[in-house]
Amino acid sequence: MRWPKGLDGLCYGGDYNPEQWPEEVWREDVALMREAGVNLVSVGVFSWARLEPVEGSYDFGWLDRVLDLLHEGGVRVDLATPTASPPPWFSLAHPDALTVTADGARLSHGSRDTYCVSAPAYREASARIARVLAERYRDHPVLAMWHVHNEYGTWCHCDHVAAAFRTWLRGRHGTLEALNDAWTTSFWSQYYSAWEQIMPPRATQYLPNPAQVLDFRRFLSDEMLGHFREQKAILRELTPDVPVTTNFVFGDWVPVDQWKWAQEVDLVAIDHYPSENPPEETAFAADLARGWAGGRPWLLMEQAVVTYTGPRMVAKRPGEITRLSLSHVARGSRGAMFFQWRASRGGAELWHGGMVPHAGPDSRIFREIRDLGNLLPALAEACRDPVEAPAAILWDTEAGWALQSPGFPSTGIGYLEAVRQAHRVLYRHGVTADFVHPSADLSGYELVIVPSLYLISEDAADNLRRYADGGHGTLVVSFLSGIADEHARIRVGGYPGALRGVLGVRVEEFLPIGEPVTLDTGDTASLWTERVHLAGAEALARYPDGTPAVTRHGRAVYVSTRLSDDAYARLLGLGSPAPVELVRRGEWLFAINHGGGERKIPGNLLLPPGGYAVAKVPRPG
Ligand code: GLA
Repeated sequence: MRWPKGLDGLCYGGDYNPEQWPEEVWREDVALMREAGVNLVSVGVFSWARLEPVEGSYDFGWLDRVLDLLHEGGVRVDLATPTASPPPWFSLAHPDALTVTADGARLSHGSRDTYCVSAPAYREASARIARVLAERYRDHPVLAMWHVHNEYGTWCHCDHVAAAFRTWLRGRHGTLEALNDAWTTSFWSQYYSAWEQIMPPRATQYLPNPAQVLDFRRFLSDEMLGHFREQKAILRELTPDVPVTTNFVFGDWVPVDQWKWAQEVDLVAIDHYPSENPPEETAFAADLARGWAGGRPWLLMEQAVVTYTGPRMVAKRPGEITRLSLSHVARGSRGAMFFQWRASRGGAELWHGGMVPHAGPDSRIFREIRDLGNLLPALAEACRDPVEAPAAILWDTEAGWALQSPGFPSTGIGYLEAVRQAHRVLYRHGVTADFVHPSADLSGYELVIVPSLYLISEDAADNLRRYADGGHGTLVVSFLSGIADEHARIRVGGYPGALRGVLGVRVEEFLPIGEPVTLDTGDTASLWTERVHLAGAEALARYPDGTPAVTRHGRAVYVSTRLSDDAYARLLGLGSPAPVELVRRGEWLFAINHGGGERKIPGNLLLPPGGYAVAKVPRPG
């Protein structure tokens, strides 16, 4: 990990888009940033059209003045390469570099992210603007970090993509025969007799080939990573000691395999916009980011002062900005950043809020921003020790992608739901969880949960076997795990495929259900049931027809249905719910009361409604 140059403690700030405002406002911005304790801003994220208004002709004057002003004000800069939004002239000059949707529509400029990452003209233009920027600002003392692009995640299905996909497939499968075998093209007359016949998964008559769709996502992830690496190489060459990052976006549509990307960035950075249950979603996102970062510090690059729930966007409630920022920091973020510094008065995101809202600095939001900025420096000491997590949850982006294929026996299954339930149950009981890759060393965890890990390699299955057989802790595997190989082909002979041995069960049939059923333990099971045969395991709970629903084999537990949260917690032996959000880091305890009542926390401290404490609290016992 490389930390932004010139910053030792926690980062505080956000996206700063000064080109929207006249220069007098910039001076007020810097004064307000100082007042709020801001020490880092991301500049230039969408500035390409202002930096290069005409192809090959640059206007850096305004950015020079912005960077000088920030430097004089003591605010450091995370300088962006603006490649997430090419200017209109670029699209007109290179229409072949515009995105093509799956059904063949070529999009037009007018929004952002409308480019094809495989188009040679776009790749060249991206490299050029990155180089020009780095040449100009390589020695500017304000430069703390590079922010390449923004939220990689665009899909395209054009002919450039088709050609690049074929090249990638040759690298992955070697021969056409191997590809035909991996994709099971013998079904539905899909056999390919030449590479040129292979297409991206464009709109087609009925269900697409799931292995093709899965490989396409893997390809898109690698293709975008190639774009990132090209820019990173240029930035490294010109500014070897300036860290390079990009901000990961959440969402199951995003074709980015964060495990791979995390190896390439100097600092894992995420954007996070919770909706229905902000505290739980925040803990989930923050724990995932820490997992991707391999336990090292990471950075919350963007959050909002508003919350988006389906139909509404509302300002965060009093104190909520601080509580959610604290939760990120407690879970390993080395700071709290926002989108954006000053709320826009026009443009597509004029309602997305800002650290300085439309009302200006005389506002509750800005006062809270200022208070948070004053609080953060005091927390640096409590962030020295690593986050302590007795439990691990396996996370595999590819398994999640595979579970999104249409045609499953139930439309109700979802990878994210399964993973989030495991996390939520632990969170509500005050158990911090790490997210780990299926191949990670699990030996240090008391509990390892494997939610719906549909795709699994032999190596990962061996890893789980070693964990359970080695007596390190309890392994809890839930339905739809172990089923398929890396090409999304079923491991035949009985489910759960690669995990039959370690779990001591053989599942003969899947029996998805509409109405919940009651197990002999009194617990409720919904969505999914299975015909489970014991093959060494014992039954812990049974379906109404007497067949096993939850089993145990040594220290390996199998859950063949969706349990209610309460039943899940009982199965994990979690005891009573935690009074507030709790995270331990060495001697320090972070306690955050997201609720409305006064709560007693370890150390005999009382937290008022909405209150928090970061204190040295001895461990119980
Ligand atoms: C993302 C993007 C920002 C902005 C915000 C708010 O995080 O990176 O540019 O669009 O969402 O919607």
